Amino acid sequence: MRIAFFDTKPYDIPGFEQFAAVTDLELKFFETKLNADTVSLAAGYDAVCVFVNDTVNEEVVNRLHELGVKAIALRCAGFNNVDIKAAAGKLRVFRVPAYSPYAVAEHAMALLLTITRRTHKAYLRTRNFDFSLNGFAGFDLHGKTVGLIGTGKIGRIFGDICKGFGMKILAYDKFPNPNAGLEYVELDELFAKSDIISLHCPLTEETHHLINAESIKLMKPTVTIINTSRGGLINTYDLIQGLKQKKVGAACLDVYEEEGDFFYEDFSGHIVRDDKLVRLISMPNVLVTSHQAFLTEEALSNIAETTVDNLKRFFNGDPNPTTEVRYEDVAHI
Ligand code: NAI
Repeated sequence: MRIAFFDTKPYDIPGFEQFAAVTDLELKFFETKLNADTVSLAAGYDAVCVFVNDTVNEEVVNRLHELGVKAIALRCAGFNNVDIKAAAGKLRVFRVPAYSPYAVAEHAMALLLTITRRTHKAYLRTRNFDFSLNGFAGFDLHGKTVGLIGTGKIGRIFGDICKGFGMKILAYDKFPNPNAGLEYVELDELFAKSDIISLHCPLTEETHHLINAESIKLMKPTVTIINTSRGGLINTYDLIQGLKQKKVGAACLDVYEEEGDFFYEDFSGHIVRDDKLVRLISMPNVLVTSHQAFLTEEALSNIAETTVDNLKRFFNGDPNPTTEVRYEDVAHI
């Protein structure tokens, strides 16, 4: 079976080659992203393997179907970039529901610690033998309230990490988990009482721009917002206004709503033509990472193992029901 990988980076390849070596899967790695312009590259392949910024909309789904592609293997957990409704009855869709929720939760804490204690700036200062401390006063995390939006795998682990720091946890989830040992509150209460708000829900029509001018208005002055989930959860313009008005004290962003044009590529020699992204990066109280929360050795290995297993089982006529994304299962989200 021939599999076309899109948006492949050097760090993806060794794991996939290792796990595919003992199968009859033949892998072709394309650097380009999958979208309407590149979909013809999938001709002659039985499945495509895609990542977070490939665009698998209705047009691409239909074209893949015409080309005889039978499956889409997402090598990530989120599936907001695939039109699952359009794929129903045409292509089977698989994902990696959990590869290392620890990787993402730990990255969220790394961002929070960095922005509160300015270690990213201290590193640069001491490298220049500047040992002054002006502007570095942070705040204790101990005793602060963190609001978790989404209490699935990652949200709960991030909550556990925060508990270790002596923080109080408030939680909101569309489907609260009574066994999570969390104090669930309504969204407005979470906005009003949290010193730190961390987003761990999927991007859906309902959660699109969950953080906007209205919700920011409800938040505590100097709230810190962490987004390691999906960029579209935040209305970036409104976040920038909140930061400029000093209503939002800090933002830690591993994802950005227009990231597809920039993230994972080197633009250091270019003029970046996205004014909102540039504005965010220019702010001293904003930390942007390039959708890297997943990037640990453990996660890469688990992603490759599960994706190869998803493809192998599908082509052997034994698709894994726990990793398949079926329209009837996700239509309500
Ligand atoms: P999960 O499926 O275990 O948990 C998601 C939670 O969100 C569930 O408890 C669900 O009930 C809740 N939810 C669904 N709709 C909601 C709504 N409208 N409002 C509030 N909560 C809602 O997913 P997991 O593994 O914890 O991942 C969370 C998100 O993290 C993913 O959707 C993905 O977008 C993102 N992610 C980001 C990565 C990165 O590298 N930055 C890597 C992996 C995931």
